[in-house]
Amino acid sequence: MQIYSTIPEMRTALKSREGIVFVPTMGNLHAGHIALMTRARSHGQTVVVSIFVNRLQFGPNDDFDRYPRTFAADCAQLEAAGVDLLFAPGETDLYPEAQQYHVDPPEIQHQLDGHFRPGHFRGVATVVLKLFNIVQPQVALFGKKDYQQLMVLRNMTRQLALPIDIVGSETVRADDGLALSSRNAYLSPAERAEAPRLYRLLDGMRRAVRAGERDFARLEREAAAELDRHGWKTDYVALRRQADLQPPEHAEERSLVALGASRLGTARLIDNVEIELDGSR
Ligand code: PAF
Repeated sequence: MQIYSTIPEMRTALKSREGIVFVPTMGNLHAGHIALMTRARSHGQTVVVSIFVNRLQFGPNDDFDRYPRTFAADCAQLEAAGVDLLFAPGETDLYPEAQQYHVDPPEIQHQLDGHFRPGHFRGVATVVLKLFNIVQPQVALFGKKDYQQLMVLRNMTRQLALPIDIVGSETVRADDGLALSSRNAYLSPAERAEAPRLYRLLDGMRRAVRAGERDFARLEREAAAELDRHGWKTDYVALRRQADLQPPEHAEERSLVALGASRLGTARLIDNVEIELDGSR
């Protein structure tokens, strides 16, 4: 695997490459990321990964400083996964001057996660567009665990006519259902044992909706209350349309998603479960 940290080096290395498939990350890689790399291989000849903890997408109370940075272990995993090129810029490589031009996503950036993390999706969209401009991939993969991020980036790519296919990859879970996430590292052993409750409740919402329940507000309220009863501090639990993450307007919407974000100790965990009412999920 070739590793580069500057934009000119990366551009030169990519000149002779074809079929570029890109997986942007913030490092601290786990099996969920590696599943993305493996899947990336089936979309093209050159798999490019980036590792960059992007200050722009962290708010003042977020975990930028303590976000786990595990570069050597990450490189070993990427090497083993057969990744071709790694772009790992420092902050001054990617932001040599204060970033004054931003991608400003529409209203959805202020809803759900965006309501609790003001500026987050603006920071994500800005860095991803910048990374896309550097790497110029034909395909880019993102995990479905960050469902709202995937939607924002898919819409950005379409609306700005970027010639990139955005592929969403299924969430990888531990045996007890907990979605793999770098932030699971913040959980104490007791919190780790409690953490799968978020997925269980979202999955319970899926089963209830598939069984015919249409009082979505009640399902959301009950799941949030159940989390809080077990020591969580819930930001939101929401049942939304998959297409635009807006509340379903009528009871016959077929493609829904139950999303939740809640704090357990010092970890803020997010998760989601897609609900297809045609019987497939
Ligand atoms: O999902 C992430 O790890 C980050 O938000 C991303 C897409 C790499 C942008 O910094």
